[in-house]
This record gives sequence, structure tokens and C-alpha cells, in this order.
Amino acid sequence: MSAKKNHNNKFIFDKENKLFHKFPSQLMLKSELEMTLKAKELSDRSGLFYVPNVVDYTKDKLIFELLACNTSLRAYFLKSTKTFSMSKDNLVDIRKVFFNVGLVLGEIHSNNQVFLGVKKKYLDLEFNINEGDNVYLHGDFSISNVLYDVNLKRISVIDWSLSQLFSSPANYGPRYWDLTFFISTFFYASLSTYYSYKLREILVREFLLGYLEKTQIDRNIFSNNLGQFIYQFNTYELYDKMNNEKVSGLKSLLWQRSKSKLLSFSKRIEQDFL
Ligand SMILES: Nc1ncnc2c1ncn2[C@@H]1O[C@H](COP(=O)(O)OP(=O)(O)OP(=O)(O)O)[C@@H](O)[C@H]1O
Ligand SMILES: [Mg+2]
Repeated sequence: MSAKKNHNNKFIFDKENKLFHKFPSQLMLKSELEMTLKAKELSDRSGLFYVPNVVDYTKDKLIFELLACNTSLRAYFLKSTKTFSMSKDNLVDIRKVFFNVGLVLGEIHSNNQVFLGVKKKYLDLEFNINEGDNVYLHGDFSISNVLYDVNLKRISVIDWSLSQLFSSPANYGPRYWDLTFFISTFFYASLSTYYSYKLREILVREFLLGYLEKTQIDRNIFSNNLGQFIYQFNTYELYDKMNNEKVSGLKSLLWQRSKSKLLSFSKRIEQDFL
């Protein structure tokens, strides 16, 4: 097999047979398999996004169709910001993509009946919301798990498992989890994107507008809850709580910047989003 293994043998990219092999822990595998199959049904029905086919599986491996283009939304954003002084056209394109990613997550959360039958495993975060705000979650909706094919103009959603911040799979809980996770990962600063927060806010707002277009929800309550949820459960806060080891140097600087930008954004959403 002409296959390329990644450094920790978690995946095999088998180009010859157009397959992608993934080796999740046994605890995660069943949950990822079940959620992926249901999500595939929804993606076929809605036509708004794509989920790679599960070709086969064993007790320790999932085999997916290999996507020809697996550019993540993160990579697409980085590429676009490089051409920033971005042309007006580029900016229109990327805004539209983020709006559409919002539509996709809204579609997932508001067509939740497709997941019925998958055993609910609650995300264990204490947050006071209406029962209607508890939904089946993607769980790891980061900008690396959303892929964008520029040629097909197609959004794919992969990796239907729980964030590695947690030790056991959960697939049900506050809608704000997927939103917060996406926004937190998008706010992560690298050196090349150190100054691009204005653009990030514009894109996050597009994402949220897309989300709301698909969701029957009171906008004031939504922004209030989301602001508070981001404040309490952003990935930086959770990671800091779970890992006591200190990061230092440049990494710490980037981390602090990401977190402080995110927290001030969460305050603004709470006060004036809509
Ligand atoms: N069906 C696919 N076809 C092509 N590439 C894929 C496919 N699924 C995943 N990939 C690529 O492999 C990477 C890892 O896959 P995935 O996100 O499912 O695993 P993971 O264990 O969560 O890894 P990570 O921790 O890096 O997110 C993805 O970021 C993507 O670039
Ligand atoms: Mg992933």
C-alpha cells in the first residue's frame, strides 16, 4: 500500500486506494462512528456540507474515503490573510465561507432529530440554560475539523468526536459548546496572525449570523448566553485548569494574547452583538 503514516501512527493516508485510516481509542471509536454515520445522512439531505463516507471499520480503526482536498479552514484563513492587504473580492469570499460554516453548524443543531437513537452522553459543564439549548453536538468543532475545498466551494465536517480537552466522549449538551470551541480555536494567535483580530471578529460575526439564520432562538438571550459561555468555558480557560504545567516564552505570549482578545470579544458579544 502506498501509504503515508503520520508521526504518531494515528492516521494513514492511502492515496492509491483513496482511503483515510484513523485509529481512535476504543472509547472514542464507537461514538465517532455513530455520530459520523448520522451526520452523513444529514449532509446528504441538506446539501449544505459534506461528510466523508465511512468505507469500513474494525474494532480499532475507522476507514474513510480520502478527500482530494483536505485544506482546513485554518489553512484557508492563513492563506487568505497572506494576500491581505486582501483584495475586496477575497474578503467577500472569506466572509461568505464563514457565514456558510455558521449555516452548517446551525443546520446540525437544528436538525438534531437525525441523531436520535445515538445514546446521549452529556457534556459535563455546568451552565444554566433552557432545555431547548441542549442539543446533539459535534463536540470538536474547531477550525481544523472544518475543511474547505476552494475549487468545489465545499465545506466538509470531519472528526465527529469529543475535544481532546476531555477524557471521555460526550455528544450532547449546550449548543454554546460547539460555538465556543470554534471561536476559541479561531482566536488562537500565531506570529503571522498576531495583528489580524479585526478581521477575525468580522469573520466570527459572519459565522454567528449564519448560525442564527438557521436557528429559532431569541437573539438577545443567545448573545448573552454565548458571551458568558465563552468567558467560562473557552479552550484557554479549560486548558489552563486541566494542565498545571507552565508554558513559557513566545508560546505563553501568544497564548495570553489569544485569551485576552477572546475574553474582550466575549464581553462585547454579551453587550452589543445584535
Ligand atoms: N477523509 C479524509 N480525507 C483526507 N484527509 C483527512 C480526512 N479526514 C481527516 N483528514 C486529515 O487528517 C487530519 C486528522 O484527522 P481527524 O481530525 O479526523 O483526526 P484527529 O485525531 O482529531 O486529529 P487532530 O487531533 O489532528 O484533529 C485532519 O485534520 C485532516 O487534515
Ligand atoms: Mg481533528
